[in-house]
Amino acid sequence: MSKLDPRPIVQGFYEACSGSIQYVVACPVTRRCAIIDPVLDFDEKAGATATRSADAILAHVDEQGLTVDWIVDTHPHADHLSAARYLKEATDAPTATGARVVDVQALWKHIYNLPADFPTDGSQWDKTFDDGETFRIGELDARVMHSPGHTLASITVVVGDAAFVHDTFFMPDSGTARCDFPGGDAARLWRSLQRILALPDDTRVFTGHDYGQGGREPLWESTVAEQRATNTHIVAAGTEDEFVAIRKARDATLPMPKLILHALQVNIRGGRLPDPEANGRRYLKIPLDAFGRSAS
Ligand SMILES: [Fe+2]
Repeated sequence: MSKLDPRPIVQGFYEACSGSIQYVVACPVTRRCAIIDPVLDFDEKAGATATRSADAILAHVDEQGLTVDWIVDTHPHADHLSAARYLKEATDAPTATGARVVDVQALWKHIYNLPADFPTDGSQWDKTFDDGETFRIGELDARVMHSPGHTLASITVVVGDAAFVHDTFFMPDSGTARCDFPGGDAARLWRSLQRILALPDDTRVFTGHDYGQGGREPLWESTVAEQRATNTHIVAAGTEDEFVAIRKARDATLPMPKLILHALQVNIRGGRLPDPEANGRRYLKIPLDAFGRSAS
């Protein structure tokens, strides 16, 4: 980034049910913006969707006089439903995600036994970004870095001095994202982390999740220098092999996210809910024993 480039204005919105951070990143000159990783609220006990989180983002956009140019999902999320489709209908902005989403679609099409004509070509988004591809947010340059490991399709979006890393680095005291979902790979995540650490030291790193480590308030902003010096997993692991061992040991202790089976069928459709059935109601589909049988 040259000294003349504007510094993006970043606003994070914390969604407490899933510990997700949603972002609005805006050009200070043109007031154009992108929304990154918006959440569609979902109460799994009632099967009820709501748009409180997305509407709070729309209210911010309105209050700040912003125009939405892009709605980006960094990957198909396993812990929440994406509000990308709802926000597209509200703003008319295009939706986008990483090009390798096609691999995640193929994987989950099989798990859900979706109909043969379910497209696995990324056509549910207006744009899928390849590694290194760039786009504009007003006068800001945004660059996409493929950063797999947590999923096959994860991307990091670098906008000026801000990197939206989502499920790669968490806050330094919380380490890194899990790699045990279908398509996850700890060695690939290690390589993605190294690519992020190669960004300039003062790059602002915005993570996608925070769970209030040790009871502290949720946080989501750090820097590349802080991550290199203090991230618990980076400090503990000097090599890829050591990182993979740490990551696998940690992942073995984690239960599946409670919404993984609800969320992926929506998120591989770009945030669309399944089509209504003949009675006008939409249904989610839950595969049984997809990850092995219950131990209890
Ligand atoms: Fe995730």
